[in-house]
Amino acid sequence: MRCGLLCKTNPIKPNLSNGMAGSCYIFGAFWRTLECVWMTLEFHLRTAGAPPCPFLLLPAQNIITILAMEKDMDITKVVRQHLQMENFFTGGFMVRSSKASSESHSNEDKQVEAELEKIAEEVSKCRKCGLGSSRTNSVPGEGNTNARIVFVGEGPGADEDAQGRPFVGRAGQLLDKIIAGMGLKRSDVFICNVLKCRPPDNRDPRPEEIISCMPYLQTQIELINPEIIVALGAHAARSLLNNNLPIGQLRGQFHEYYTGIGHPSIKLMATYHPAYLLRNYSDDNRKRVWEDMKKVLAELGLAVPKNQKHQNNLS
Ligand code: URA
Repeated sequence: MRCGLLCKTNPIKPNLSNGMAGSCYIFGAFWRTLECVWMTLEFHLRTAGAPPCPFLLLPAQNIITILAMEKDMDITKVVRQHLQMENFFTGGFMVRSSKASSESHSNEDKQVEAELEKIAEEVSKCRKCGLGSSRTNSVPGEGNTNARIVFVGEGPGADEDAQGRPFVGRAGQLLDKIIAGMGLKRSDVFICNVLKCRPPDNRDPRPEEIISCMPYLQTQIELINPEIIVALGAHAARSLLNNNLPIGQLRGQFHEYYTGIGHPSIKLMATYHPAYLLRNYSDDNRKRVWEDMKKVLAELGLAVPKNQKHQNNLS
């Protein structure tokens, strides 16, 4: 965990200290490795009975997608297992050293920024799914790399595709209002999506696209290490929570986003996607989103802004 100087770069992040972070990270990595080995074994046993071997990872994505689609499996569970296997064998993007806790925190912040830049660069060249060739710009995400809150949407729309920035269209303007209603600025939080490239005609993300793109989001979350993730809409919530429940059931309560055995989980609040809210702009829905955001503020120990106590400004 990056702690000591966090409040310098992010005024809403408190000054905590955690000298155990480095050793916890090594311990966590050990358990994570065991977990990945187990996932790999389980995956191979459940598919063709093939021996657990890294070379089998190349076709693994296709096998998983076909299994998920044809056997009506829980896609998010399958995605998670695949990602854990892939991260295990590829090492993911991030190498966080145990030295970090003894180095200056601003160095660590710089390291996080550099790693996030690397992801953005990787995303801009990504051709892991078909969206890589149909996009205008990739949209890796943006914001405070020290954020206490990460907002995660579904995928870029036309405006985001044109500008290469997340949530800049109509839904983005509403998200800005939600953030302002919480007494925060856009620059206080980090905003990104499950998919980093626009699905044509704003269609729903496909399983193979989520599988290809999730490692980017997982690594972004791991690097930023927020206290709360706000999942905007069903696709973001389901992809992060490993389930297929409707958003009406998921929103309004905290869930746990697991980053791996030995790592502390991160609290996740699901709420309606701003685009859904725009299409269904009722008092009830606005109140529901506002109630969700008040829970986020309370969890962070932040006061509800005075003028927001009796009304919401999502109108
Ligand atoms: N909808 C999303 O899910 N993400 C964006 O960035 C914009 C609209």
